[in-house]
Amino acid sequence: MEFITQHILVKTNPNTKPIKFDDIIGLEEAKQILKEVITLPLEFPQLFDNQEEHPLISTWRGILLFGPSGTGKTLLAKAICNEMKQHITFFNVTASSIISKWRGDSEKLIRILFEMANCYAPSILFFDEVDSVASKRNQLEHEASRRLKTELLVQLDGLIQYGQVFVIACSNTPWDLDMALLRRLEKRIFVDLPTQEHRRMLLHRLLHQYGGERLHYEQLAQNTQGYSSADLVLLCRECVMMQVRNKNLPICIEMQHVQQAIEMIKPSNSSHWHENYVQFAKQFGSSVVL
Ligand SMILES: Nc1ncnc2c1ncn2[C@@H]1O[C@H](COP(=O)(O)OP(=O)(O)OP(=O)(O)O)[C@@H](O)[C@H]1O
Ligand SMILES: [Mg+2]
Repeated sequence: MEFITQHILVKTNPNTKPIKFDDIIGLEEAKQILKEVITLPLEFPQLFDNQEEHPLISTWRGILLFGPSGTGKTLLAKAICNEMKQHITFFNVTASSIISKWRGDSEKLIRILFEMANCYAPSILFFDEVDSVASKRNQLEHEASRRLKTELLVQLDGLIQYGQVFVIACSNTPWDLDMALLRRLEKRIFVDLPTQEHRRMLLHRLLHQYGGERLHYEQLAQNTQGYSSADLVLLCRECVMMQVRNKNLPICIEMQHVQQAIEMIKPSNSSHWHENYVQFAKQFGSSVVL
């Protein structure tokens, strides 16, 4: 109990700038689904909690955000945590916080975690990088990790009896996830690389302060195909830092500086991998009518 309160229950840190949905560029569909899944049941509990009268109205309790690295999965979860903090308790569960070296402890921790989430309901259990605790089961794995996975599955199955407890999980290797777990994370949202338009918006937001309207953002967006949002942040940081290193102050960024940084910083996701996400999304993904 104490461990969970100390390490997993999220307390907002007044020193960090809270993330809002509007800070996240693109990903409209993902934002829409998250808001809908979590806010509708809170808004209309009389519809969602009355299975006898409305057996068809139920909510998705398990959500999987999957996609290449650096595309905003963790950011989306942080935004929902921040935007809903008045109404929802947020538990941030990382692999290191639940994998215990003491035999049997991890399962117990999972059990208590779900019970606590139920006590504090409405609540969200956020499992970032879920692949590290719930990859496919195989012969070689340790018995303790198999038991941990089984407990997780049992708890997820029981979720529907609990009050309003939601599970959000993130993964960038969704095809490695245990099939049973995948089935329980019913709503699967593809968080893809930014489109050209979204790259333009992000580059503009990051560089406008130093490059104003001198920079051709459209052109830069074209030249950064395949870059994730995190790659673009890195690219812009490199651009600015180059100026600082060369003591070109006040910082004034020109097109050639950005081009130079593009030569140095390459996308971190390969296009070959990207195809795997698209395939996975076709097979298992869900979308929504906006
Ligand atoms: N859609 C976006 N809009 C604005 N900034 C973004 C967006 N996506 C990512 N970023 C930037 O990239 C950083 C990393 O994003 P985040 O941690 O959400 O990636 P991730 O998808 O969780 O990656 P991983 O799978 O590697 O954990 C963020 O802190 C933010 O600066
Ligand atoms: Mg992440």
